[in-house]
Amino acid sequence: MKTKKTVLLGITGGVAAYKAAELARLLVKAGFDVHTVMTPAAKEFITPLTMKAVTGNPVFESLFDPLHRSATAHIDLARDPDIAVIAPATANALGKLALGMADDLLSTVLLAIDLATCPVLLAPSMNTTMLMNPAVQENIRRLAARGYGILEPGEGLLACQEIGKGRMADPLEILARVQAILERKRDLEGRVVLVTAGPTREALDPVRFFTNYSSGKMGYALARAAVERGARVILVSGPSELPLPAGVEFYPVSSAQEMHRVVMDKVLEAEIVIKAAAVCDYRPELIQEEKIKKGGDLALKLVRNPDILQAIGSEKGRRFLVGFAAETEDLLENAVQKMEKKNLDMIVANDLKREGAGFAAETNLVTLLYRDGQLEEMPLMSKYDLAHCILERVSARTG
Ligand code: CTP
Repeated sequence: MKTKKTVLLGITGGVAAYKAAELARLLVKAGFDVHTVMTPAAKEFITPLTMKAVTGNPVFESLFDPLHRSATAHIDLARDPDIAVIAPATANALGKLALGMADDLLSTVLLAIDLATCPVLLAPSMNTTMLMNPAVQENIRRLAARGYGILEPGEGLLACQEIGKGRMADPLEILARVQAILERKRDLEGRVVLVTAGPTREALDPVRFFTNYSSGKMGYALARAAVERGARVILVSGPSELPLPAGVEFYPVSSAQEMHRVVMDKVLEAEIVIKAAAVCDYRPELIQEEKIKKGGDLALKLVRNPDILQAIGSEKGRRFLVGFAAETEDLLENAVQKMEKKNLDMIVANDLKREGAGFAAETNLVTLLYRDGQLEEMPLMSKYDLAHCILERVSARTG
């Protein structure tokens, strides 16, 4: 019987391949049994000997290696691991996986892995222009939608001397993600969680609308994390460019009124409601049927939108309600007031003036406040990690 969790580490041919050795070292140090599969191009950047020395295991390089235990090595390799990490994942590797192509050992193994039993994390790494190429972006979105975990590339000086997005995720971050997935509790199994995300769009005329800077990142991270913890997740989202987390029931909406309608309908099924959406408080009184032509000054009348969270709070029942407060001043006072006014169990207070917090950032810096007066200041962390922290608290308080 195996005592250690097994990681299949796939290395493809990018400059960041040299970081795979550091990743393997960290994984081994953390107690994982690491088995490496390298593509022929990866071997141009780092040698199999290095990986063998770091992991203490033989390195797999070819579909037709006579040293394989059996003639179906790709199937054996796909059956064994608890998790697979492809780091770095080149544009070519992502493209092949997205298309279901299998022309070497690694791509064949990847197709033979069942995502239901073995999560696969992909760490894209390449030149910024390549990364932003619509073909590559589409492949990444497709893979994410199929349930592959994408380790977002970072920004910085790249090997090509350009500055931009494309650096492989930091090995420490990858290790943390592997640990989080393998050690995660399925503590929301059987629960129904409704998450709202993104901004709303309030139309003015056929070509214009009011909105805000919300990216949807926090809400999507919450939806993904809730699925990972075993919940049935209903995601109601305003317009967002983000890839849809695998396994959610998705209801795209545009305006606050639309979000209100869908949420009030779906909330009946939910025991936990997390309102991360940045709902526009006001909308134009009238939506003009024709495009407004310019002339002199224009005065617009805005009218209040329904407060969705307050509406849920007033008929809360036994539901656990989590709200968000984005503030630029008097953070805690305002958050406590919102929690009381909307009858919430918990509020995530976000100080927009602090670095690392806020709408488009990958990270968040928040204070969690609870109905019983408890308060927890959280350190700077990724929105994904924060999502798990929030859900852990919710689960502990509703269990
Ligand atoms: N919210 C909502 N419906 C609205 C407005 C906000 O459900 N029409 C929810 C948000 O999803 C979030 C919380 O309420 O969870 C934010 O509270 P809110 O008081 O609306 O924050 P602000 O819009 O920042 O309010 P204010 O302008 O009063 O600071």
